[in-house]
Amino acid sequence: MKDINFLKANNARSLWHPMTAPSDSLKNPPTIVVSARDCRITDVDGHEVVDAVGGLWNVNLGYSCDVVKQAITAQLERLPYYSIFRGTSNDAVIELSEALRDFFDADGMGRAFYTSGGGDSVETALRLARQYHKIHGEAGRYKYLSLKKGYHGTHFGGASVNGNANFRTAYEPLLPGCFHIPAPYAYRNPFNEADPARLAQLCLQALEDEIAFQGAGTIAAMIMEPVLGAGGVIPPHPSFMPGVEAICRRNGILLIADEVITAFGRTGAWSGSRLWGVKPDFICTAKAITNGYFPFGAVMIAESVAAVFEADDSGKAAIGHGYTYSGHPVGAAAAVACLAEMQRLDVRSSAAARGAQLWQGINRLKESHRVVGDVRGGHGLMLALELVADRDSKKPADKAVPARVQAAAYEAGAMIRVSGPNIILSPPLVLTEADAAVILDALDKGLSAA
Ligand SMILES: Cc1ncc(COP(=O)(O)O)c(C=O)c1O
Repeated sequence: MKDINFLKANNARSLWHPMTAPSDSLKNPPTIVVSARDCRITDVDGHEVVDAVGGLWNVNLGYSCDVVKQAITAQLERLPYYSIFRGTSNDAVIELSEALRDFFDADGMGRAFYTSGGGDSVETALRLARQYHKIHGEAGRYKYLSLKKGYHGTHFGGASVNGNANFRTAYEPLLPGCFHIPAPYAYRNPFNEADPARLAQLCLQALEDEIAFQGAGTIAAMIMEPVLGAGGVIPPHPSFMPGVEAICRRNGILLIADEVITAFGRTGAWSGSRLWGVKPDFICTAKAITNGYFPFGAVMIAESVAAVFEADDSGKAAIGHGYTYSGHPVGAAAAVACLAEMQRLDVRSSAAARGAQLWQGINRLKESHRVVGDVRGGHGLMLALELVADRDSKKPADKAVPARVQAAAYEAGAMIRVSGPNIILSPPLVLTEADAAVILDALDKGLSAA
């Protein structure tokens, strides 16, 4: 490692960071993380904190997961790369595909298509959805529906279905034919409806209305996160996703569950679709599939969709899509080890238990800190606190406020994430009770500095 002076002097000098202005990284130098163990990270100054961000919702098994590290090293030694484009395959990806098929059997998924990350997985599902309709004679279905507040990565397709202007405006014009439905966000919504069940019904009505307006026969797919994540952790009422599924089925629209965050236990269920009892047509995964140790993703494809592709030999079902790193053997080996370890440790149960602890904790913090306007969570280890200038008017807190909360919480022992007016918590699923208590204590101190 280069010495501290070199790292500090050159921090952000020769790179641009995602999701911030280059000038901001120069004015507010990023924290330089140099090592990690269990659920804790250490910065260049030797300050160790609990990582309440979990890397970026991906290091679900923490930083000391030896089985995944060993699988990666062993695979690098034996076969560091081979493509799975037409005509070749590798042993690791075959083994993984059988393991994923078992894992997602309860969701009705039977095939995998591999990618290098979440954005690629979204792009893949969007493209395959259009192709599905072309194969079975409905070429007019090309539009996409999605939720406002949704996050689907920043590729052009993903950004076009994204529901947040921050990822859109500077890059417009985006893909034509993408339309957005109000999110089931009880704290703020165009219906002024605070009751989650009634709000879910209103959002479903808006979905039906949009379908009628566009014409069902023009719509290829609806993409949604089972629990909106990066948009501020917005768990819907349990009736919402089943309602979307029923509407999609009635109208011949494919349902894409973007589970880049929610797959593999984060919500306290093995998948977000299973949490709500829904069987989508595609499930997009990435992130925790390799515990964040290798860039990798998989789109899971429902048996019913696979049947349409596999029955066609006219040429329409030839997949003109793929990435150099689709099915990368090192990523596949990491994922095989990771899947087994997640199940051995039953991380969905620990996510539920630690999630309940943090959920109670942040509700208590809301009572003692007026700056907290809303707290959201209650489904595993994805939680948020929305900060406001004033509770009655719900005016969002000034930009400097969450930054101050974050800095003070970091000093007090926890790395938390700021996204707009929201503080987001997405720690590893193997978080201990003691580490969860550290997060709550650090948050308390952070909010006191608001
Ligand atoms: C739901 C969802 N979809 C897609 C993505 C994009 O994934 P990636 O950043 O790996 O491209 C993310 C990333 O946070 C996500 O949360």
